[in-house]
Amino acid sequence: MLHRDSIKKTLLVAFTLCVVASALVTTTTVLLRPIQEKNRLLDRQKNILAVAGLLQTGKSIQELSSRLETRIVDLKSGRFVDIENPGQFDQHDASRHPLPSTAMTPKQDIAKIQRRANHALVYLLRDTTGQIKTIVLPVHGYGLWSTLYGFLALASDTRTVEGLSFYEHADTPGLGGEVDNPRWKALWPGKQVYDEYWQPTIQLVKGGVDPDDPTTKHQIDALSGATLTNHGIENLLRFWLGNDGFAPFLTRLRREGLAG
Ligand SMILES: Cc1cc2nc3c(=O)[nH]c(=O)nc-3n(C[C@H](O)[C@H](O)[C@H](O)COP(=O)(O)O)c2cc1C
Repeated sequence: MLHRDSIKKTLLVAFTLCVVASALVTTTTVLLRPIQEKNRLLDRQKNILAVAGLLQTGKSIQELSSRLETRIVDLKSGRFVDIENPGQFDQHDASRHPLPSTAMTPKQDIAKIQRRANHALVYLLRDTTGQIKTIVLPVHGYGLWSTLYGFLALASDTRTVEGLSFYEHADTPGLGGEVDNPRWKALWPGKQVYDEYWQPTIQLVKGGVDPDDPTTKHQIDALSGATLTNHGIENLLRFWLGNDGFAPFLTRLRREGLAG
């Protein structure tokens, strides 16, 4: 029989507690995973609606999302690829496999993503005549501690920003994490991401934008104490608006019109 204060009994109680606690943690993790995944998708969807200016209270995400058309674009040709259920395409997963993706050379890889999926999801908002009004593009690239994943919404001129929002990143709250600050996000609408020659041009200005600078339309106040996150954002936008990103698609839209 075990003595009340024996070492054996203490060890047995500690061991039993460890087994029970780890079983509880594992079960909870497994049970919560589908809920977490659902919430993650919902959050992503909310971000798409927010940058497209469609988010409003009193309406469900599903209802609001039905106003957006989901398409897949072949990034090289800039053409739409017609497949069933484009919403099921996992661009993130595609970028991890060699066949549906392309390795970026160090010179190309300014966003530090290593591989880029050959196809990308885009979300289109059309007006009542069927013309594209807003184009939502997924963008991602490295900040300081993490890859930032977000959406950039452009107006039909393919140059004017309607919104920029990141739905996933692990940069530091209060520093790089200020990308989530609504006041910073509110600085983006109306800015222009291409210059007159259609070169991607966006600058995050340390110390704040000088309103007298003639290029303010291409400038945004930089996040304080977050130089590396700021560079990451500039670089990821330059990448996704450039020739290895959505430039062929946006050029085609401008040439062929917005009804397609
Ligand atoms: C704990 C910790 C977290 C930091 N997080 C970030 C960050 O999320 N983004 C960033 O650019 N810099 C971050 N930095 C600061 C960088 O190391 C670097 O000092 C900063 O980018 C310099 O920016 P500044 O020139 O605007 O002050 C962090 C530093 C520390 C010590």
